[in-house]
Amino acid sequence: MVDSIKVAVRLRAPSKREEDLSPIVQVVSGNTVLAKSVDQRGFSRNFHFDHCFSSSNDPEEDQEKLYDSLGREYLLHALDGYNTCIFAYGQTGSGKSHTMNGQPSAPGLIPRLCKDLFEVRDLLAPTKDGITVELNVKCSYLEIYNEQVRDLLAGQDANNSISSCRVRERLDRTTFVEGLQEFTVHTVDEILDLLEQGNEIRVTEATHVNDRSSRSHAIFTIALDQKEISPLGQVLERKSHIKLIDLAGSERASASGSKGERFKEGSKINKSLSSLGRVISMLAKKNKPKLIPYRDSALTWVLKESLGGNSKTCMIACISPCDYEETTSTLRYATIAKSVKTAAHVNSYETSEQKEQMELMKRQLNDLQETLSELKDQKAIQDQMEKIKLTNDFLEQRIKREREQTVEYYDQLVQASTERDQLTQVLLSIAGSIQNSDLSDLAPVIERLQTDSRILGSKIDSDLSFCNKISGLT
Ligand SMILES: Nc1ncnc2c1ncn2[C@@H]1O[C@H](COP(=O)(O)OP(=O)(O)OP(=O)(O)O)[C@@H](O)[C@H]1O
Ligand SMILES: [Mg+2]
Repeated sequence: MVDSIKVAVRLRAPSKREEDLSPIVQVVSGNTVLAKSVDQRGFSRNFHFDHCFSSSNDPEEDQEKLYDSLGREYLLHALDGYNTCIFAYGQTGSGKSHTMNGQPSAPGLIPRLCKDLFEVRDLLAPTKDGITVELNVKCSYLEIYNEQVRDLLAGQDANNSISSCRVRERLDRTTFVEGLQEFTVHTVDEILDLLEQGNEIRVTEATHVNDRSSRSHAIFTIALDQKEISPLGQVLERKSHIKLIDLAGSERASASGSKGERFKEGSKINKSLSSLGRVISMLAKKNKPKLIPYRDSALTWVLKESLGGNSKTCMIACISPCDYEETTSTLRYATIAKSVKTAAHVNSYETSEQKEQMELMKRQLNDLQETLSELKDQKAIQDQMEKIKLTNDFLEQRIKREREQTVEYYDQLVQASTERDQLTQVLLSIAGSIQNSDLSDLAPVIERLQTDSRILGSKIDSDLSFCNKISGLT
């Protein structure tokens, strides 16, 4: 299924540092922001996105609104079996960490999604059709610091250093982080503890712009493994993951006041964000090039699938209210990201148990088809027998009729034979009477009559014996 990256913009309220500055951007509707330059140029431009959020005086309510309009949607996609990804992008201090992690008084999208996930898990009950659903949850947490991928849940060694991992490519060209630890979690507290544990280790430092500036990109991954078991024991498995990303912010060294280690971190962050920008603008092209430079940075290499592959992806572009250059640059970048297409599909598998079940059903179907064709053959034989029986009945009727006629004919023949004998007697006596009389010239006539009578008599005799033969009469 072809999907576009969904883009939301979040405008934060002016901070204490910005109190004396004039805001240059405002959210004018649920999906439009207006940016105006305050210098003599007076440029102004509307930007349109899937969602635009402004800030109120109630950070908790703002966080809830953002989660309800966006976060829950991606949790539901993941429960449907889609890989999903939400990443917060923007200049330093624009509100990315606030959006993704938030504070205890106003939790961000990640803790809210975890809470919602376990609430959904606890509600899973057998359906009306008797289907039961098992949901297993695992999580992992990594950061990309100075281009190194580090496992935030693996703990630190004696020198307080975090173990680093390599990004590898699978045969199907998707990438994964080798050796990254995944933890099975059973309760919302367990998953939030791991999130907290990772956040404590993640590198953050105070800069001129942000007291708690993220110096690394952080990727919190929740892996879902769902099994739908039917009453017949068929198992449909769905595997998906949710990647929740709090990027480090782009920064101008002059504005952030970074020096030494901070400056080095800042330039690495900028380099990987430029590489992310290049990948996004190439993916957004109508005729996108065959070779996308994912390998240019650890960030794009890790996010290869989320940016241009099997994922429903959402970008939350965080903007500051008073920095025209940085804010419009983020808005232009976010506009390009809207055109990036991904190819999300449901990751569902029939487990072997179900395959076996299918094989069994196929075999049963074949057996049934064979029995059916045998039955058809038997039916043909039965039809034939029926025809033969009908013909037989008809012939028996006919023989019966013929027999009756033959008996009738036999009776007639017996009658004729008696009459013939009487006639022969009469002819004999006539022949005796006319001998030596004046009627002697009638003798030839009598003789002819006697001959005819004999011929007729022998015919009657042969018919009688024929009748005897065919009817079994005596
Ligand atoms: N929408 C918001 N409502 C209230 N406070 C906010 C909001 N967005 C940001 N803030 C506050 O602004 C400060 C900077 O925000 P945050 O640390 O989230 O920025 P960031 O984009 O993560 O910056 P960096 O790239 O340096 O890590 C924080 O004190 C945060 O609480
Ligand atoms: Mg941050």
